[in-house]
Amino acid sequence: MARRTIDRNEPAADDGDSPQMSEAVKAKIRGFFARYPSKRAALLPALHIVQETCGCITHRAMRDVAELLELAPSEVMDTASFYTHYWTKPRARKVIVACRGLSCDLMGVQEVNRTVCQHLGIGEHETTADGEYSFVTEECLGTCEYAPCLLINERLHKNVRPEDVPRILADPDNDRIEVERSDLYDGMKA
Ligand code: FES
Repeated sequence: MARRTIDRNEPAADDGDSPQMSEAVKAKIRGFFARYPSKRAALLPALHIVQETCGCITHRAMRDVAELLELAPSEVMDTASFYTHYWTKPRARKVIVACRGLSCDLMGVQEVNRTVCQHLGIGEHETTADGEYSFVTEECLGTCEYAPCLLINERLHKNVRPEDVPRILADPDNDRIEVERSDLYDGMKA
């Protein structure tokens, strides 16, 4: 199936018209202040909350977080753009994170990743036009004993072979985890 792709490396869209962060989201972020010695230290959870409630971290959201944490907007942008887990453009409903670490590499993850990209018709940092999947790679998922592995949202797929990829992608529950999900960062609508 042909799919149009979106490059997530493009700068965030001009979001001058995007809504301001809701009071509920701000209150959730403020709830983290007591855990840290300074407001600045709550930046990572603040970005997680924005992402989980708003879908991605727009420029507007960065400015709102900066105001709340008494930081320069550029400091928030530095952090949001440094970590691959933060999305400044809309991401898919499911994010596939493939490992590119040594253990997975030795166990053939490159072929697995090629199969994922071919199957979805996208490259790294891209999103399928139907908004179902985004694909990225990271250095190590911390589960080297199961190499090669893929993460789909929060569900780990272990010892993945290229021939397993179509079955995994066709499974509607491929991102469902079997333990109760923490609502530390989400559980509310913006
Ligand atoms: S190298 Fe792949 S999980 Fe560590």
